[in-house]
Amino acid sequence: MSEQVRGVIAGARKAPVTVDTIVVPDPGPGEAKVRVQACGVCHTDLHYREGGISDDYPFLLGHEAAGVVEAVGPDVTGVAPGDFVVLNWRAVCGECRACRRGRSWYCFNTHNASQKMTLADGTPLSPALGIGAFAEKTLVAAGQATKVDGRADPTAAGLLGCGVMAGFGAATYTGGIQRDDSIAVFGCGGVGNAAIAAARLAGARTIIAIDLDARKLEWALGFGATHTVDASKEDAVEAVRALTDGNGADVCIEAVGRPEVLKQAFYARDLAGTVVQVGVPTPDMALPDIPMIDFFGRGGALKPSWYGDCLPSRDFPTLIDLYLQGRFPLDKFVSETIALDQVEQAFHKMERGEVLRSVLVL
Ligand SMILES: NC(=O)c1ccc[n+]([C@@H]2O[C@H](COP(=O)([O-])OP(=O)(O)OC[C@H]3O[C@@H](n4cnc5c(N)ncnc54)[C@H](O)[C@@H]3O)[C@@H](O)[C@H]2O)c1
Ligand SMILES: [Zn+2]
Ligand SMILES: [Zn+2]
Repeated sequence: MSEQVRGVIAGARKAPVTVDTIVVPDPGPGEAKVRVQACGVCHTDLHYREGGISDDYPFLLGHEAAGVVEAVGPDVTGVAPGDFVVLNWRAVCGECRACRRGRSWYCFNTHNASQKMTLADGTPLSPALGIGAFAEKTLVAAGQATKVDGRADPTAAGLLGCGVMAGFGAATYTGGIQRDDSIAVFGCGGVGNAAIAAARLAGARTIIAIDLDARKLEWALGFGATHTVDASKEDAVEAVRALTDGNGADVCIEAVGRPEVLKQAFYARDLAGTVVQVGVPTPDMALPDIPMIDFFGRGGALKPSWYGDCLPSRDFPTLIDLYLQGRFPLDKFVSETIALDQVEQAFHKMERGEVLRSVLVL
């Protein structure tokens, strides 16, 4: 039997989101139905609403969520009803060419639920990142539900499901940040500040936070930034050089998603350093105009980071444990909690830079 619950829908390009009745099927083979307890508002949800990801409207938004498994399909063994889980968008298949070569963090065929959730009139929904968790309940592939320690507060825990994991992994896995390294993080929203917190955990020596917004820079200091640069007032590349003996940072993280910021990250990097692109560009953007001799001559690596090259089955339980031990400040990302009908306002607060994360609590 399917079930009707409420969910947040983006019905058309750039139109305000609405709360509608959605139909959630009972889990079939390989699927799990999850009662959502909390779901963070990520910039990628706004990208969906704006038409920046695809035109497959209507979208069921929300993808940074924690909740409790309510029911599972007949063959599911990995999770069981009652388990406290964080949802992920990397349920690895184990069989694609990336998985077969032991590089499952690149999995090219990640699992989502095979049945569709729909509107009450039967219109199929496109769940954001295959999750769709701005809803009282959602249907996912069982592998998308990662069991973690149930003592964690769902409001904070859910944030691991996307932005915090992406930022943490961008520094840790894609950037390979190590003790003694210098790192510059461009854009200190939820993603950028997670990269900063990861760099502190790894023992980075110099952690430079760059943003246009003074509030974000203040928060960045709380996550472990050793220096801040207000790029609305000073040249970010010169400032990073000045803070790194004139050399540039070992790892520069672009956590905004704009060509001009990628260009700054490129030039703010030391010779043979790494640029990590974790901010998501829109389809109309082109790579910045950089002389090819600079690309070659500066060496190093330019690396896009999908979901921080994370493996949820490995990383979520660990990061939740570090959070419970007081070593990873997951709860600091929560700026406010909101209700189901306040997602549109939360988008505006995000655009005005007033929040790190608004978290929908159900
Ligand atoms: N790669 C992934 O897997 C992944 C996962 C989650 C989110 N993202 C993307 O990461 C990006 C950041 O997400 P978020 O949730 O932290 O967004 P956010 O809106 O909270 O943060 C963006 C920050 O960038 C700052 N900023 C804007 N223009 C700037 C500039 N020119 N120079 C410096 N700072 C500038 C803003 O003031 C803001 O603090 C988005 O593009 C999002 O879609 C990527
Ligand atoms: Zn795979
Ligand atoms: Zn996200």
